[in-house]
Amino acid sequence: MSQGRIITGVDIGTNKIVAVIGEVEEDSLKIIGVGKVKANAISNEGFITNIDDLKSKLELAIEEAEKMADVQVNQIFVNLFGNKVKCFSAHGEADVLNPKSGITKSDLMRALEDSKHSIEVSEDEKIIHMLARSFKVDGMDGIKDPVGMSGENLETDVYVVASADSVIRNIENCVQKAGLEVRDFVYEPIASSEAVLTEDEKEMGVVVIDIGGSYTNITAYTEGVIRYSDVIPVGSNSITNDLAIVLRTSYDEAEKIKRRYANLYELDNENDKVELFNTSRENVKLVSKKYINEIIFARLEELLKDIYGRIKKEKLLNDIKSGVVITGGGALIEGLPVYIEHFFDMSCRIGRPLSLKGLFDKINSPLYSTAAGILKYAEKSINNSVYTDRGFFGNLLFKIREFFETYF
Ligand SMILES: Nc1ncnc2c1ncn2[C@@H]1O[C@H](COP(=O)(O)OP(=O)(O)OP(=O)(O)O)[C@@H](O)[C@H]1O
Ligand SMILES: [Mg+2]
Repeated sequence: MSQGRIITGVDIGTNKIVAVIGEVEEDSLKIIGVGKVKANAISNEGFITNIDDLKSKLELAIEEAEKMADVQVNQIFVNLFGNKVKCFSAHGEADVLNPKSGITKSDLMRALEDSKHSIEVSEDEKIIHMLARSFKVDGMDGIKDPVGMSGENLETDVYVVASADSVIRNIENCVQKAGLEVRDFVYEPIASSEAVLTEDEKEMGVVVIDIGGSYTNITAYTEGVIRYSDVIPVGSNSITNDLAIVLRTSYDEAEKIKRRYANLYELDNENDKVELFNTSRENVKLVSKKYINEIIFARLEELLKDIYGRIKKEKLLNDIKSGVVITGGGALIEGLPVYIEHFFDMSCRIGRPLSLKGLFDKINSPLYSTAAGILKYAEKSINNSVYTDRGFFGNLLFKIREFFETYF
């Protein structure tokens, strides 16, 4: 099998590491290998707390996927995680070189290059994504593909994602220790959205909520392009913690209870009781399902209020016509979509990786959205190469491909 056609996406999560190997076919992406290993080496602040542990778990996940796919992996696309990421808009402008013969890719490139003037990143930050959202030609707004149009002036609105360089270097170090190379990073909220959304949803307006172990990623799309993304350092592990503390049991027992009994339809069920161990596992006590789910509900309600407040503050509520898509392990709580429908007054569905071939049934769960999204994102970028050797973008070659990827 030719290595050029094989790509690997790795999701380094706070609860697990997932490696997914894909084979790029003419118009589809075929999953050929999957590896998943439990991990616990990222702090709540997004720092790698145990690089050796993370390295060996990463090796295990890659090995499992390699065996299944019968290929050897050298380079990976990996998630940019944590909350040391900055997202903002930038504006670029260029005079069209030949207004009569129409706007060219080279004009777009100059408009993008010009956007560097409005990008404020410090020396210890690095740009990870530059996504062209829309163009203006001679002041005419909302143009998605200006190439070929006649006009004298071209403006572009770019969505920029930048990260603390230290975070990037730490991930790169860990990957290198595992004998691999980072081919590129994909910002986690963008990756999850890429896996679970349809183009129609992005066009109509949609919010993706990826509830992981320690993080909740939020992303909003309207008119086909990204409007907002954010990371809240609270995830479904906080629910487990709450259960352990309030029910006076161990974290592991609380995790079992959560997975077995979390069900927001059980909030009225006073009589149905379940057994659980105390912290030392010496005694068993009876607790109602209602009480368990009240504890779960309290944390979720706080998280959802926070998310709703953020979407409202961004003035996006009226533009989200397609509703909410929840994904990540936290989306597996029974009854959560219905509760979100009431809370947001929008429809809600669970998001799993879409439109993949091959062993897609092995990743047909919200737990695999980020890894699958990294792979889909990587495939798109590779398929849309545009090369440049311009100074400012010398180290941003891949980002330029990505810029064009949105429109060509
Ligand atoms: N069947 C289930 N029912 C309820 N909760 C579950 C289930 N399976 C996993 N979870 C919860 O999902 C969370 C882990 O989700 P996920 O695997 O998406 O996290 P992660 O990607 O490793 O973390 P992060 O995205 O924060 O870095 C854990 O808190 C776990 O308890
Ligand atoms: Mg995750």
